[in-house]
Amino acid sequence: MAKTKTSYFCQSCGYESPKWLGKCPSCQQWNTFVEEIVEKKTGGIPDWRNITHTAVSRTNQPHKIQEITYTEEHRLITPDKELNRVLGGGIVGGSLVLIGGEPGIGKSTLMLQLALTLPKIKVLYVSGEESEQQIKLRAERILSSPLSDCYILTETSTQNIFKQIEVLEPNIVVIDSIQTLHSAHIESTPGSVSQVRECTAELLRFAKESNTPVFLIGHITKDGMIAGPKILEHMVDTVLQFEGDRHHVYRILRAIKNRFGSASELGIYEMQGSGLREVSNPSEILLSLREEALSGVTVSATMEGMRPMLIETQALVSNSPYGTPQRSATGFDTKRMNMLLAVLEKRCGFKLGAKDVFLNIAGGIKIEDPSIDLGLIAAIISSHEDIPISHKICFAAEVGLSGEIRAVTRIEQRIAEAEKLGFEQIFISKYNKKGLDLSKFQIAIQTVAKVEEVFELLFG
Ligand code: TYD
Ligand code: MG
Repeated sequence: MAKTKTSYFCQSCGYESPKWLGKCPSCQQWNTFVEEIVEKKTGGIPDWRNITHTAVSRTNQPHKIQEITYTEEHRLITPDKELNRVLGGGIVGGSLVLIGGEPGIGKSTLMLQLALTLPKIKVLYVSGEESEQQIKLRAERILSSPLSDCYILTETSTQNIFKQIEVLEPNIVVIDSIQTLHSAHIESTPGSVSQVRECTAELLRFAKESNTPVFLIGHITKDGMIAGPKILEHMVDTVLQFEGDRHHVYRILRAIKNRFGSASELGIYEMQGSGLREVSNPSEILLSLREEALSGVTVSATMEGMRPMLIETQALVSNSPYGTPQRSATGFDTKRMNMLLAVLEKRCGFKLGAKDVFLNIAGGIKIEDPSIDLGLIAAIISSHEDIPISHKICFAAEVGLSGEIRAVTRIEQRIAEAEKLGFEQIFISKYNKKGLDLSKFQIAIQTVAKVEEVFELLFG
């Protein structure tokens, strides 16, 4: 009998080692190595090649770059505008798209909704997680009469899936989820590093050789990475992340990697009783409708991908009842908040050392754009001094370590969005003024260079 080959894999990052190691040299995690059988000596060749006739072995010839003709790839435009945007303008034939996200965030809902609403397209939805009845029940909630030819297959073996694909010849395949699949060529359990890698490789071959787009749903680990080897992200063409707070209705679909479009695009959805609804004007819903100014609340004009978005930030500063004050931020990086607090303490003389500081970004979304800095510190001081800031004012600037107000990108778009939503004044960095045509805007533009100036203007 032929010997089976085994190897040790780090379950956290996919690092491969011929012997067991206590600590992963790649990701520094302890005790993550598991022995996996990498090759089962059955003498067979990968099944996708066995089943289909498309894969004739051919060798590619080098071509001079001038001689290569370029045709605009044909894209399938879906009825979901947000998804089109994130994919870079529709689904590219033969592309492999990975969608990651926390459990319960709505990955299956998003994909089933896509599968149901593509007009006159044959979709195969493969589920290894739910039964046909459960999927039917979900489909009923989303759309009672599907526009597409949607087939449901509950199967986890890739060989059997390919057999069904051969018969059905779908235009699009959705796999829910990659961690439930297993290939007969590998003996380790579904979800293990080598299984995930092998199943993805087989699907990749299928996608490229048949020019069929394949969507893979992937689980994520507790620290927010897509579970399975990092190599998974290298293998696929596009990685999308579906995120949001499960207790809020808003969801963001973000492109992390995209071979066919910009990786800074994002789509916004609202989870409703009947599936996901596209949100085309995010600012209006993220701003709570308030009639009067409240202390500790400000609005910032941020950019999410290529889209301007007005976000409400709330701060609460109170005396700490304990020795160590609490600092907590929801939807914002805590380290950056601490930095901003240090700037306020050192540069502006506010005594925040013995205060609890809580920050919250409304709507349960996460903001990484540093242009929110100025709005945040204004909210903190507004709460600290208990002086409200007019709800007709908004902010768009970064704050540096010495308390200087720094310029941000795409300032015109931000100003235009603020104006559109009825704000009367916007605070921006003085360094953003260069090349900016102020006469274009009705909104009052206040340029500032130092944080002290801002406080003087707001509370002075
Ligand atoms: P699901 O798509 O199963 O999440 P995932 O596949 O990412 O684990 O999302 C399920 C959640 O969405 C569940 O809590 C119920 C909710 N939901 C709605 O609010 N409306 C709907 O129309 C559907 C189908 C689900
Ligand atoms: Mg699911």
